Parts: sequence; structure tokens; C-alpha cells
Amino acid sequence: MVDTLYGLRSEAFYVSYKQRLLELLRAGPGRRFLDVGAGTGDAAEKLSDTTGANVVACDLAKVMCAEMRKNGLRQVAVADVHRLPFRDAAFDGAWADRVLQHVADPGQALGEMVRVVRPGGRIVVFDPDSGTQALNIEDHRLATRILSLRQAVSLRHSTVARQVPGLLTALGLQEVHVETRTLLVRDRKTVDRVMSIRGWADTFADLGHLERAEARRFNALLNKAICSGSFLYSVTYFLTAATVAGHLEDRDTGGTLEC
Ligand SMILES: C[S@@+](CC[C@H](N)C(=O)[O-])C[C@H]1O[C@@H](n2cnc3c(N)ncnc32)[C@H](O)[C@@H]1O
Repeated sequence: MVDTLYGLRSEAFYVSYKQRLLELLRAGPGRRFLDVGAGTGDAAEKLSDTTGANVVACDLAKVMCAEMRKNGLRQVAVADVHRLPFRDAAFDGAWADRVLQHVADPGQALGEMVRVVRPGGRIVVFDPDSGTQALNIEDHRLATRILSLRQAVSLRHSTVARQVPGLLTALGLQEVHVETRTLLVRDRKTVDRVMSIRGWADTFADLGHLERAEARRFNALLNKAICSGSFLYSVTYFLTAATVAGHLEDRDTGGTLEC
């Protein structure tokens, strides 16, 4: 995972959406932000360097926190997004980039992020929606089977991204804004650098979800498609940004909702 995250740092798709994600935080000098599930800490470093904001980066994995410290980040904490070790309203904004798809309870995680951000502060979340995946190889049925296994087996919450705007609205957030970004992979170089597609079928076979013969067939057809130029993979990501309600009573959504 550490190597994968370093590998993605220079990919155009990731550079572009991360730039937009950081803009949506509305950071500025002296403001305080929290990167939840920060990985190797590239975005935390960038936000701090480009805006003068004070950034705290946390991750559940000790190995990620060690990488962040190695990369020069000073405010790093091993922390679970379900129980953030920060006081209420401690930050001007918090973000989670490709994290909610992996956590046990995305609703609780968002609730914690909202708790630690002050009224008027920003929440930004980015995740893929794996229900939007498309894959072209010669055998369409096999492609569909691999994609459904990827949704069911590889990812804990493969379609959480489409639920985030509703979850933030239910938490009483305002200005809920959604954008989409589609990752499109066609060339040989990119297929080897992002998504680890070449390893999917073997992993499903190792886990007992796919016959070895099917995995071999998938790998051969994948290779054929890549070599012939007919290969295509795409998935759409949702970027959601919102503002924490200005008054505590605005966060109470217990009354009758009128549309
Ligand atoms: C796909 S990586 C994304 C890392 C980083 N946000 C980025 O964009 O490069 C997901 C990260 O979420 C972290 N993570 C997973 N579950 C978590 C949790 N419950 N609390 C905090 N971090 C978590 C993982 O350790 C990993 O570093």
C-alpha cells in the first residue's frame, strides 16, 4: 500500500483531483486542518506548503504515520476515524481521501469528522463508486464477474461515495456540493501503475471466489486486450464538500423534513 500511494503521487488523475479537493477546504494561513487516513501525507504536506495552514495528519496504520514523519510532517497521530482523539470544533476543516470505502462505519466516521470541525468549517470527502466500473476485454461476462467480485470482496463499502452527500445532509451540514471525476485507464503503462488490475483475478482465486482456470483466462484476455489496444477500464469518483452548520441547533435534523 505504501509503494502504491507513492506511485500514484505523480499520476495526472490523482494530481488533478487532489488539487481540487484542497481548494474546496478553503484553507488559509493560520487555519487548522485535519487529514483523516492521510496515508503517506502528500496532501497534508501540500496544503501546509501552499496555504500556510496548520495541518494535522492522522492514520490508523502505524506504518503510514512512520512514513509521514519520515517525509517531514510534524503533527502526525495514529488514530481511528471512528474515535478521533481531538476536542470538539478543534479544526477549520477535515478531509478524508479514499478512506471511507475502507472503514467499518462510514456514517460514524463522518460524524466524528463533523464533531471536530468548528461551525462554518469545511468537510471534504473523496471516494470511488465501484458500481460505476466499466471494463473491456473480449469476454464481457467474465469482465462483469471480476468487477462484481471487486465490489463485493475487495472493498468494504464499494458504493459509499454516492451516499456521502446524503449522510452529510442528514448530519445537518450546509452547502453540500458534489463533483464527479472519472478515472479512465487505456494504456499499458497506466494499467501497471494504478488499480493493480493485473492482480485482481489471482487474488479472487486465492480467496476461493474464482476457479484458477477462470483467473488464468481473465489474465490472458486482459493481456491480449492491453496488447491490442482494446483494453479500457473506468470508474467514477465522487468529491463531496460541505460546510458545518453555523449554529448547533442547525445540526438538529430531528424535525419534519420538507422538500
Ligand atoms: C487508499 S489509502 C488513502 C491515503 C491518503 N488519503 C491518500 O489519498 O493518499 C486509505 C488510508 O486510510 C487509512 N485508514 C483505513 N481505515 C482507517 C480508519 N478507521 N481510521 C483512520 N485511517 C484509516 C489506511 O491506513 C490508508 O492509509
